[in-house]
Parts: sequence; C-alpha cells; structure tokens
Amino acid sequence: MSIQLTRRDDFAVITLDRPAALNALNYATLQAIDEALDEVAAWKVRALLFTGCGDKAFCAGADISELLDRDIPDEYVGTRLGQSVFSRIESFPVPSVAAVNGYALGGGCELALACTFRVGTSSAKFGLPEVKLGLVPGYGGTQRLPRLVGVAAALDIVLTGRMVAADEALRIGLLHRIVHGDVIEAAMAYARGFTGHSMLAMRLIRDAVLRGVDTSLQDGLRIEADLSTISMNSEDGKEGPRAFIAKRAPRILDR
Ligand code: CAA
Repeated sequence: MSIQLTRRDDFAVITLDRPAALNALNYATLQAIDEALDEVAAWKVRALLFTGCGDKAFCAGADISELLDRDIPDEYVGTRLGQSVFSRIESFPVPSVAAVNGYALGGGCELALACTFRVGTSSAKFGLPEVKLGLVPGYGGTQRLPRLVGVAAALDIVLTGRMVAADEALRIGLLHRIVHGDVIEAAMAYARGFTGHSMLAMRLIRDAVLRGVDTSLQDGLRIEADLSTISMNSEDGKEGPRAFIAKRAPRILDR
C-alpha cells in the first residue's frame, strides 16, 4: 500500500508510505488518498492529518518516473486527479493539518497548501521546483501559494524553484508552527487547540474565508452574512451566547 490510514484519538491520519521514493505521489497514491477520504468521511473525527513515512520527506512531489512514462493526455488526467483530490481535502468537512517532516516539494508542497494548517519540524523544506523540470506546478501550487503568501513571495518561490527552510516558511505564513519532537504527536497537540469548538461553526468559518478570498469585498460580506446567520440559528450558536451569559462552559452539541 502506498498510504496508511489510521485513527488516533479524534484524528484520521493519512501517512504517505513510499519512503524509497521520498513518498512521491504516483497515480496509485493519489487514488488511494481519494479512497481514504471516502472512508474518513464516514468516521466521526475532528481533524484529518497528513504526514510522510520516514525522517527525510513529507513528500517529494509527483512521481517523476511516472510522468516520463505518460503521454500528454494521461498527464492531463493525472493533473486533474491531483487537483480534484487536493480540492476535496481543502473543503473536507473537518479541518486538515499537514505534519511536515523534511521535504515538501512539488505535489508534496501542493498537498500541504491544500490543508487548512501546516505544522513542521525545523527540517521542513518547502518548494515548487517544477520549473527546473520544465514543468508548471499542476496540483494547485500556482493558485494556492500566492493566496497564502502573496504574489511577490510566490513568484520568487515558483520561478526560482528554490527551497524554503522552516524558519522562512514560518515568517511568510507558509507554516503555522515549527514543532519539536514527533511531528504527528505535535500536529495532534496543535489540532487539539481547535477540536473542542463547534464543528459546524468551524466549517462555516472556513467556507467564509475560502470563498471570500476569491471574490469582491461586497460579495464576501454577503457570504459572511449568510453563513453567520446559519450559525446564529444553529443549536451551537444559541448555546454559546446562553452559556456566556450564565457564566458557564458551553455544551457544544456539534463537536
Ligand atoms: N519522483 C520519483 N522519485 C523520486 C522523487 C520524485 N518526485 N523524488 C525523489 N525520488 C527518488 C529518487 O529518484 C531516489 O530514488 P533511487 O534511490 O531509486 O535513486 C530516492 O527518491 C531518493 O532521492 P535522492 O537520491 O534524489 O535524494 P537526495 O537526498 O539526494 O535529494 C531531493 C532529495 C532534493 C528531494 C531530490 O530527490 C529531488 O529533487 N526530488 C525531486 C523533487 C521535485 O522535483 N519534485 C517535483 C516533482 S514534479 C511535480 O510535483 C509536478 C506537480 O506539480 C504535481
């Protein structure tokens, strides 16, 4: 199997498991992630975590040897699969955390970009080196990176193909935290910082932010008003203010 899917506490953990190829994403791995998402959708978990097997790499990108074997139409289908799987992760019902150990390059960086959060050890190294292969990043990198770090920083990273070390990644907003020790334990500890909140409120907020960045301020404010109204009419949205007034902890129903 090219991935392992496990459940740890309230978390689903997908571990890319091709260490001999630095966890590169071949077609079978992308399909396995897609199938794992189907399975996790039926679980009651509060977050989805991704990591890579071994110390060296989170994921070194699309499997280059497989790209060589493909003619252009197949490569196009491969790109579409990567884009669709990563978009599923971005809008998955529960937030996702990329636990980055070592290289997160090309499609591996793009997988991390599709996650809601990125935490990494000091060995984490991000990059979109496709330009060095004469390729355009194909799993969302040219679109998600500028949305996260701004156009100037994204152009610098994509056009030089250079690697971004953990401290710079933290500074430009690519990493949310630099963590120490076991990366998956650290990612679970990070995730516990939000998993006690109403899952409905979290989902609506993510939806408001992600839909809002792709639209005008006026349209974004309308999206926010609609989603805010849904939250106010929800059981959790009534219980939270009630508990505040009563000076007690809220009994969040949709955890
Ligand atoms: N695909 C397939 N195999 C890969 C791979 C990849 N992306 N990255 C590494 N490997 C393999 C190597 O071929 C090598 O295999 P062998 O031992 O059988 O020779 C093994 O993993 C270890 O790699 P290295 O010997 O190269 O390890 P290193 O420590 O010297 O270098 C590295 C590490 C800098 C990450 C280097 O492996 C590297 O540059 N990898 C390619 C990174 C890259 O260009 N990624 C973008 C891919 S294209 C893409 O992702 C398109 C897209 O947008 C979807």
